[in-house]
Amino acid sequence: MAKKLIVTGGAGFIGSNFILKQIQDASFSIVNLDKLTYAGNIRNLESVTNHPRYQFVQGDIGDRQVVRDLLRQHRPAAVVHFAAESHVDRSIRGPEDFIQTNVNGTFALLEETRAFWTELSGEEREAFRFVHISTDEVFGSLGPSDPPFRESTQFAPNSPYAASKAASDHLIRAYHHTYGLPTLTTNCSNNYGPFQFPEKLIPLMILNAREGKPLPVYGDGKNVRDWLYVEDHCDAIATVLRTGRPGETYNVGGWNEKQNLEIVNTICDLVDENSRPLQKPRRELIAFVKDRPGHDRRYAMDATKIGRELGWRPKETFESGIRKTVRWYLDHDEWVKDVTSGSYRKWIETHYSV
Ligand code: NAD
Ligand code: TYD
Repeated sequence: MAKKLIVTGGAGFIGSNFILKQIQDASFSIVNLDKLTYAGNIRNLESVTNHPRYQFVQGDIGDRQVVRDLLRQHRPAAVVHFAAESHVDRSIRGPEDFIQTNVNGTFALLEETRAFWTELSGEEREAFRFVHISTDEVFGSLGPSDPPFRESTQFAPNSPYAASKAASDHLIRAYHHTYGLPTLTTNCSNNYGPFQFPEKLIPLMILNAREGKPLPVYGDGKNVRDWLYVEDHCDAIATVLRTGRPGETYNVGGWNEKQNLEIVNTICDLVDENSRPLQKPRRELIAFVKDRPGHDRRYAMDATKIGRELGWRPKETFESGIRKTVRWYLDHDEWVKDVTSGSYRKWIETHYSV
C-alpha cells in the first residue's frame, strides 16, 4: 500500500513543487492541508487535482480539530510541514500572522501529531516521521569573510519572519528531545524556480523586466544570498524524509552565493534574449530604492552534513536553473495573470511607494 504523507502548505511555492515530484512515486499518496492564503494557489496543482493518490483539504494548521480529524482519518506515515507565512517584507509590515501561523500553527500541528503518534505502536510508530521545512535566516547575517552557516551555528534571527521560524525550529527540537517525536528539520537557503509568488526577488524581477517596469533593488544591491533551484530543495527534503536521523537538523544550500545586483543583471539579459526587445537594455530599468529595515547582509549555507551523511547534492547549476526559471515565467502567462491580480497589485502599490 502507498505510504501516506500529510503535506502542509502544499499549495505554496516549494510545497507544490514537492507534491508534483513526489506524486510521481507510486509508493506515496499525499493529502495536502493548505489554508490558501494569498500565497497559496490551487492552480499550481491543477495537473494532479484528480490524481487517485492526491487529495486537497482547505484548512488552517492552527485549527486543532481539523488537524486531529485529518490525522485520525488518514493515519499518515509522515507529516511534511511547509505551511508558513514566508515573506520578510510582509513580516516587517505586519508580524502578527507570522507568529500566528509559524509559531502557534506549528505548535498546534505538533501537539496533534504527538497525540496521534503516541497512540501508534510497533512498526507504524517506529517508522513515523515529522519533517519541518525551515530557513537559513534563523542564523542571522554573515560578514564578508565569515564561514557559511553550519548546523551548529548559533541562532540569531533578525526579522520577525526569521524569529518566527527560529521559534518553530526550537519547538520541533523540543518535541523530539522531550517526547521522542521523530522530528527532522531542514534549514535551506533561498529557493527559486516555477510557481514562486512574484513578491520575491527573482519572479518579481522577471515579470517587471518583461513589462519594462522599474526593477527595485534595495540599498546598494550588494546583499548576498545562496540560491538553490527548488527541485533540488525538494530532493533534499525527500532524502531527509527517507534516510534522515530523527532529532537532527540538516542545512541545505546551493553552494552558490551571489549579490542581488548580479542576479538582477542576469535576469535582465535573459529577458532581453527571450522576450520582445525594449528601446534600451533591461539593465537600465534597475532602480535603487530605500533599503529593507534590518536587511541581512549575507547568507551562505554549509551543506556538507547532508552531503556526507545522506548523499544529497544539488543537481542544477545556477546558470541552467535561472534560464529554466526565466523561460517558465515567460511561458506561463495565465498563471502570472491569475496571481498578479487583486491583492497582489495592492501589495506592490503599497510596498514600493515611498
Ligand atoms: P509560500 O509562501 O509560497 O507558501 C506557503 C503556503 O502555506 C501557502 O500555500 C499558504 O496558503 C500556506 N499557509 C500559510 N498559512 C497557513 C496556515 N495557517 N495553515 C495552512 N496553510 C497555510 O512559501 P514557500 O516559499 O513555499 O515556503 C515553504 C516553506 O519553506 C516555509 O516554511 C518557508 O519558511 C520555508 N523556506 C522557504 C524558502 C524560500 O526561499 N522560499 C527557503 C527556505 C525555507
Ligand atoms: P527575498 O526574495 O524577499 O528573500 P529573502 O529576503 O528571504 O532573502 O529577497 C532576496 C534578496 O533580494 C534580499 O536581499 C532582498 C532583495 N530584494 C530587493 O532588492 N528588491 C526587492 O524588490 C525584493 C523583493 C527583494
